[in-house]
Amino acid sequence: MRLAITIFFTSLMANAAATEDSTLKRWLQQGLGFLSSEIPSPSQAGAAAIAKATVTELTPTNWQSELRARTDESPSNWLIQITGGNKTCGGRCGPLDANFNKTVALLATTPGHPHFGRINCDTSPVLCSTLFAGPPVLWYIAIPGIQAADQSRAPTPIYVKGLNATEPTPVQDMVDFHAKQTYLERKPVDSVMHPFDGVLARYGLNMPIGYGLYYLSLIPSWGMMLLVSFITRNMMSRRAQSQTRSIPHGQAPAAGGAAKKSTL
Ligand SMILES: *[C@@H]1O[C@H](CO)[C@@H](O)[C@H](O)[C@H]1NC(C)=O
Ligand SMILES: *[C@@H]1O[C@H](CO)[C@@H](O)[C@H](O)[C@H]1NC(C)=O
Ligand SMILES: *[C@@H]1O[C@H](CO)[C@@H](O)[C@H](O)[C@H]1NC(C)=O
Repeated sequence: MRLAITIFFTSLMANAAATEDSTLKRWLQQGLGFLSSEIPSPSQAGAAAIAKATVTELTPTNWQSELRARTDESPSNWLIQITGGNKTCGGRCGPLDANFNKTVALLATTPGHPHFGRINCDTSPVLCSTLFAGPPVLWYIAIPGIQAADQSRAPTPIYVKGLNATEPTPVQDMVDFHAKQTYLERKPVDSVMHPFDGVLARYGLNMPIGYGLYYLSLIPSWGMMLLVSFITRNMMSRRAQSQTRSIPHGQAPAAGGAAKKSTL
């Protein structure tokens, strides 16, 4: 349904652009916040510098405020690269980082470009586990504006594009994800883990779970084995104790011995 509406609006917009009907165009631009006129068109030479300045490094502390910065009715779109270093991307994200940088430099010169963001799962592991995201992927987030009438916000579609680190996804593919709206070919994320609309987010559980998963991931596998064996031993000794209690007096010593053994 949402997809259909978006396609409808964008096709309307294409029509408006073709017919140069400026009123319709302006209305659509305001409605979608899609083409923004406040962004100057820099020269190609200056593009790289501008692009560098406009990529927002998202972290566990700023992601919510950054992605929810707009409190008016105009929507905002974000193109976000989820990347990592040796730990989370096996050291293979470098060429993708370079291609994303070029993508930003190209798109930054176009009117109505999205906001650009980057999440590095090596340096912000908590954010990646909160978002249930791992490199190398691109996210396209179409954040709706706030309804003036009741201060509510429509659901936030998130489109995920997997990137290829073996044969680095070409710049054109990344550019088209926004420019040709190839993101619309994908089904938006629809799960309990959705960072804005999912059940976990609605109950404010996604950050705590993100931290929990992160701390779990810090436990080395031998630690995990110790923990599991500690828990199962504990459970077994408890069961043995409750059996001891229910066993008649005559047999108690044998059962007590078994319980003691299982707590070792
Ligand atoms: C990543 O690993 C490579 C080799 O495996 C090493 O040369 C490089 O210094 C590492 N980078 C970081 C940031 O640790
Ligand atoms: C991409 O741009 C960022 C600055 O936004 C820079 O820190 C990084 O080194 C660049 N990466 C590549 C591979 O060019
Ligand atoms: C990435 O590229 C390699 C080499 O072309 C290919 O074998 C592989 O299937 C691609 N992976 C994905 C996820 O597209």
